[in-house]
Formats: sequence, structure tokens, C-alpha cells
Amino acid sequence: MEKRILLIIGGGVAAYKSLELIRRLRERGAAVRVVMTQAAQHFITPLAAGAISGERVFTDLFDTAQEFDVGHIRLARECDLIIVAPATADLMAKAALGLANDLASAVLLAADKPVLLAPAMNPQMWANPATQRNAAALRASGLGFIGPNEGEMAESGERGIGRMAEPEQIRDAALALLNGGPLKGKRAIVTAGATLEAIDPVRFLSNRSSGKQGYSIASALAAAGAEVTLVTGPTALAAPLGVSTVRVESAREMLAACEAALPADIAVMVAAVADWRPAAVAEEKIKKTEAGIPALSLTENPDILATLSKPGKKRPQLVIGFAAETEKVEAHARAKIARKGCDWILANDVSGDVMGGDKNQILLITRESAETWPLMSKAAVAQKLAQRISETLAGKSAGRG
Ligand code: C5P
Repeated sequence: MEKRILLIIGGGVAAYKSLELIRRLRERGAAVRVVMTQAAQHFITPLAAGAISGERVFTDLFDTAQEFDVGHIRLARECDLIIVAPATADLMAKAALGLANDLASAVLLAADKPVLLAPAMNPQMWANPATQRNAAALRASGLGFIGPNEGEMAESGERGIGRMAEPEQIRDAALALLNGGPLKGKRAIVTAGATLEAIDPVRFLSNRSSGKQGYSIASALAAAGAEVTLVTGPTALAAPLGVSTVRVESAREMLAACEAALPADIAVMVAAVADWRPAAVAEEKIKKTEAGIPALSLTENPDILATLSKPGKKRPQLVIGFAAETEKVEAHARAKIARKGCDWILANDVSGDVMGGDKNQILLITRESAETWPLMSKAAVAQKLAQRISETLAGKSAGRG
């Protein structure tokens, strides 16, 4: 069936490339309907976009005729995918905040379909912490990104990261999203965050895990087409779009939720599960008494990674654990693969500010190999991992794994 794409053109010089993008999408049989921001119309005209798309172009949230005929809700719904190209810093900021004061931002807020953003801006604007925060928030909400690329800026000649991805790249990323990614038909379970182990009704034991890495991995696997269940301890993060999120507190609840999500093809255990919990939870708040400081007696928690790794019919094809280490990272990670029975370990040195931070440096250990990944954002780690998982499962199903 013909795929319908809604292309939102933002106000940047790269808008001229969006006309080429319309052609490339139509060549592949997609129907393209265009929304242009006011700013975009300084760079290209609705007439040009309309002539190339062969459809009426929408520009105004407050134009009675446009709203009456189709309206922003129908624009958002009557498509299979929304592409924003160029996605300017301003459009991204609006989308990250949920503003809806013009047609493009209102459509994005009303969207219930996958969204692919192709950012384009000056390298300083892209690198600005505000833009990076917005990009991270949009990624965490499940929106996809293509680019920006490194290269020369059309307007200033400056070099850096900020060039919009080429029309063919955007088209290919869009078609991959539409046709289902490489993990289409695969089920994945991801754990994230810390567990919370009650001492009494008000006190608990926990740790500093933010959940960022696990949430990014859940999003990246979903973006690659997998059906993902994210089992998460308490975090301050919003549930990623397109992922089924189960919130739990204790390690035992986390294990039960993981087992309930089986069968799965992939399990990525990112959560920082508490190794021990109080042996008994006091029913009432423990009072300060003259008897002095209470002794806390601990008992071992179940090991979720080891449990899911156990051989058997329900064992996921690929079970992946994390190892937060502060020394002898590779040796400890290898020992962990053997001890837990998992397939891969992503080891990271947490002696820096990895926990709660936005970057991560990974050593990927499989039974056969070890590879060091450069320091990168947690979102980039997630994307690279999703890609490695896709390649491995494709290899296995072809009998090469
Ligand atoms: O043994 P350690 O806690 O270092 O192992 C870390 C790996 O094991 C992580 O993947 C973590 O999610 C998982 N784990 C688990 N259940 C536990 C302890 C750790 O799933 N009780």
C-alpha cells in the first residue's frame, strides 16, 4: 500500500534540500504532504513544495480554510510517518517543550506516528547545551534522528557538525522506519534504573543509577523495530514512546516483571539491581530508641541476569549484561560472563561520572572477542548496541552465528 509521509519543513537554508527529498520519496512510491513553518517560507515557497509534492501545502494553524478542510489533528494522523527536515534548533526546542503555537509544532504535539528529525543548523547552535538537552529529551521520547552530518555550512562556510543529512540518507532512514527495522518481529526485555529495597514504610536502600542508559537502549531497540518491554526501577525519566514500560521497585518485582515478559529474543539487563535487601521489612517506621542504632540484617537478592541466562526453552537467544567496574574491567567482565551464563557483557568503568552522566565508555565482551568503543553519549551507545544486536541476530538466523 502507498505510504503517506507528512514532511514538516523548518526555516533553514537546508530547506532547499527538502524539495529534493520530496522527489526522492515520491520516486519510491510514497505520497508526500507538506507543512511549512513561516520561517521556511523565507527560504522556499509553498508553490515550489506544492508543485513537487503534487499536493496542497499547509502553512497556517490559524487559517480558517486550512483548519476547516483538514486541520492539524488530521494532518498529524493521516500519515504513516512524519519527517521534520530541516529540523531547526527552534522547532526542536518547541517539540521538546510540547509547545503548539504554530501549525508545525501543533502537528508534532498531536502526532501518534513515528517521527524522524533531520536537524540542520550552525555547528555552535547544534553543540549548544540547550540544543543537546532538547535532542536528548526528544530521543528519550522515542523520536528518531538522522544526522546532522559533519561538513561545510551552506551559509557561512564554517565546518563542523550541523549539516542536514543528504536527501537520500533521510529517505533511506524514513523507509527503514516505515518498513520495520532490522529487529522487526523480535521481542526484547530491557531492565533499567536502580532497584529500591524497603527497610520500613519510609526508608529504603538504593543506588545512584539514573536509568538513562537503559531507557536509551529500550528506545534504540524499539526504533530498530523490536517489540520492547522496559522494566524499570523508580527514575525521573519519562517512559519512552513506542515501548511498553513496567514500573517496579524491588529486585524481586523486577525479576517477576521480566519473567512475565518472556518469551523474548533479546534481554538487555542494564538495571543496577541491589545485591542485597533487608532480610525483613519492618511493618511500622523503625523508631529511634534508647536501645541505640538498629542493626540491619541483609539477605541476597535474586540475580535477574543469571536467572534469564539459564539454559532452557525460555532463554532469550541473546542475553546481555552490564558490568560497572572501577578496576580490572576486562578480567572482571569475562568472569561475569562465565558466572552468570550470559552471552555478552558491556563493561564500563564507573570510577568517573558515568552514573547519572550522559556519556559512557564501553568495552564489549563476547565469548569470543573484546572491543573497546570510544567515549560517546549514552544514546550513541544504545544505537551502536542495537546495531550490533541486529547484525548478530541476522547472522544467527542465516546460520552463521
Ligand atoms: O554482579 P553485578 O551486579 O556486577 O552484575 C551486573 C549485571 O547483572 C548487570 O547487567 C545487572 O543488570 C545484572 N544484575 C541482575 N540482578 C542482580 C544483580 C545484577 O540482573 N541481582
